[in-house]
Amino acid sequence: MIKLLPALIQAAIYRNQREMTSVSTQLLAATEDTHPRVHEQLKRLLRTQNTGVPLKEPPQNLANIGMPTISLADVVLEDHLAAEVQELVLEQQRRAELQAFSLEPRHKVLLEGAEGNGKTMLAEALAHALDLLFIQVKFSGLLSSYMGETGKKLDEIFEYAASQPCVLFIDEFDTIATQRGSNANDVGEAQRVTNQLLISLNKLPSHTVFIAATNKLGAIDKAARRRFDSEMSLGKPTQALREKLASKELSPTLTPGSDLSKWVAPVAALELGNLDALVKLCRRIRRDQALYQGAGIQSIISRAQAPLLPA
Ligand SMILES: Nc1ncnc2c1ncn2[C@@H]1O[C@H](COP(=O)(O)OP(=O)(O)OP(=O)(O)O)[C@@H](O)[C@H]1O
Ligand SMILES: [Mg+2]
Repeated sequence: MIKLLPALIQAAIYRNQREMTSVSTQLLAATEDTHPRVHEQLKRLLRTQNTGVPLKEPPQNLANIGMPTISLADVVLEDHLAAEVQELVLEQQRRAELQAFSLEPRHKVLLEGAEGNGKTMLAEALAHALDLLFIQVKFSGLLSSYMGETGKKLDEIFEYAASQPCVLFIDEFDTIATQRGSNANDVGEAQRVTNQLLISLNKLPSHTVFIAATNKLGAIDKAARRRFDSEMSLGKPTQALREKLASKELSPTLTPGSDLSKWVAPVAALELGNLDALVKLCRRIRRDQALYQGAGIQSIISRAQAPLLPA
């Protein structure tokens, strides 16, 4: 199989479509028994290619594009959200059955909630569960200093994402889908961008899963918000959720030879700002265990508990 790589890379460099298809087909056969997951990915890629739609060039400097590495097992979610995520995954996987009934799978998801509770993680994990390319929009590239450019760039990203099955993720969505007419000084640029966004969302095919995240739900344009098939709120974590994540972060598989389970309850009892802070605290505990046999753990937890004194 490795022997096919030079031919594949050469075909990519010289944009030789026919050679690329031929080598990919050989790879498809070679991976069937040995690497089923890679085999499935190749099959899907070749299907996209065979639709006759030329594979588009990814837009330069506008997005980070790659296969996702975070999986759904890494993300701790409330039960009702985990169930909804599973439904979305199943709808994508069973699209043919839906289409037989003139239905499309849901594919536009708005993630809402205060920072550090897993919105970005969940977007990537969804791409992982669907085994799709993860396209994360880069703000620096999108918010152009040239007037009128942002809308054009947005269109470019959506066009690219629409050309293949993938997950397209835009963070800080409120900065793009601003409520029109909310700013009297607005010279029209923000309005143009929001209008462009609505057009792009309307024509997005259902094989492109679009995920937007925001911690300012109220700032989002109402018409843009209505375009979503599903809204999920990753709000302030409950005690049960904190306990679930603390058990995971302090599990014996991560600390071989030592038992940190007695710290799960005190950690989960802390009302830290968000799950990000909880994960960081657990990692400090694990570091202390690894370097000092846990001598400083009690003090680490007490300090995390102490309210910040006014300066
Ligand atoms: N639900 C969760 N399950 C597991 N880990 C989490 C979860 N939420 C947050 N974390 C931890 O916090 C980190 C930050 O989470 P993430 O970047 O997904 O938050 P976010 O909601 O996208 O925040 P922001 O609004 O700032 O973009 C993660 O890398 C992970 O370590
Ligand atoms: Mg984020």
